[in-house]
Amino acid sequence: MWRTSSACGPEGVQTPKVAAAPSARRLELVRESVVRPVADRRELAAHFEVRRRIFVEAQQLFERDDRDAYDDDPATLHVVGLAGAEVVGAVRLYRLDGRGLWKGDRLAVLPRSRALQLGADLVRCAVQLAGEAGGIRMVATVQAPNVRFFERLGWCQTGPRTLFHDVEHQGMEIPLTSPSGG
Ligand SMILES: CC(C)(COP(=O)(O)OP(=O)(O)OC[C@H]1O[C@@H](n2cnc3c(N)ncnc32)[C@H](O)[C@@H]1OP(=O)(O)O)[C@@H](O)C(=O)NCCC(=O)NCCS
Repeated sequence: MWRTSSACGPEGVQTPKVAAAPSARRLELVRESVVRPVADRRELAAHFEVRRRIFVEAQQLFERDDRDAYDDDPATLHVVGLAGAEVVGAVRLYRLDGRGLWKGDRLAVLPRSRALQLGADLVRCAVQLAGEAGGIRMVATVQAPNVRFFERLGWCQTGPRTLFHDVEHQGMEIPLTSPSGG
């Protein structure tokens, strides 16, 4: 058993990590990993590049670009996952209404950096940031093979499965907690 932690945002959230029999290199990579909102334009560009490589190139869910109007909204939060100095993961989140409903989407980790807990930390970071912003509930439309991944992070399935570009998706949600515990 071993433990380390990573931070989300300038304020930082400590996320305990536990795994079995890690190699020394893997342990080092996990220790070097961090998730937080993008710090500057360079990191925002890197966030978009991770999304392009996964959702356009690898999964071909979008033809040229997965960016949309939410990315142009200054209220949208773009989060990066870093392995050392390199941006290798992304997720974005935004408010859907004035009653505390938030959405998280575009979760991606580059293949070579998977299984380092970055994906889980990106989801936890999105949930934390939406809660800090006063959100009450966060929703996501999750690719079917990732439903268990989200369930392990406390998310619940909602509604029927739907098809998006021939890929089965599942609506999921999680309650949000404000810093005051509400
Ligand atoms: C899904 C994704 C973000 C996971 O990223 P990751 O960095 O490899 O995940 P983590 O290392 O944080 O995984 C945390 C745990 O969940 C497990 N896990 C990862 N993907 C899983 C899945 N699809 N189903 C079930 N468990 C999964 C890991 O094995 C790990 O288990 P452990 O805590 O026992 O070691 C990544 O595989 C990815 O980018 N996929 C392609 C894009 C995509 O599908 N995005 C999501 C759209 S809904």
